[in-house]
Amino acid sequence: MLPAYLPNNFATLTGGGMPIDMRRTWSDGRRILGDGKTIRGFVGGVTAGILIGLLQMYAEISGLVPWFPSHTLTAVILLAVGSLLGDLIKSFFKRRQGIERGGEWFLVDQLDFVIGALLLTLLLDSAWVVQTITLPLLITILILTPLLHRTVNIIGYKLGLKKVPW
Ligand code: CTP
Ligand code: MG
Repeated sequence: MLPAYLPNNFATLTGGGMPIDMRRTWSDGRRILGDGKTIRGFVGGVTAGILIGLLQMYAEISGLVPWFPSHTLTAVILLAVGSLLGDLIKSFFKRRQGIERGGEWFLVDQLDFVIGALLLTLLLDSAWVVQTITLPLLITILILTPLLHRTVNIIGYKLGLKKVPW
């Protein structure tokens, strides 16, 4: 799941500049996505996700790791893009709920990227998802991800990289 996890963290590091919604507002008068979703964050995040996926592919193909090759270029790209698409779509609905940029939406903020990654991959490469993400693995991912996400964000907050600890 690293190609789906890393984009979030790297978006925080590379983000800034022009927001994806170009500062436009929706019909409710609120921002479409908000200042927390930027082009630089999206591109930087997706790039980081793909790079870690390429490293995983290399490690698997060259036998550096004992497990069977599971990453394909398609899956890696879909996981990375899907994770930040999930994050974007989440922010759209967050703004419609009236939650300001950076405000917390419990569990949705913690799972948006895994759900986005798995859904986009399921949509465009269902064979990979069916072969790779077994039911026990899916349950593990859904339980561990919010815990990991929270831990990493508290660390990011303490390091001054993130404005809020969620
Ligand atoms: N970020 C970005 N572009 C993205 C995603 C994230 O620039 N596509 C950066 C922003 O600086 C953002 C930070 O990463 O503030 C943390 O991301 P996230 O928690 O998803 O954004 P929030 O600021 O909490 O905004 P929202 O309420 O819309 O989730
Ligand atoms: Mg957030």
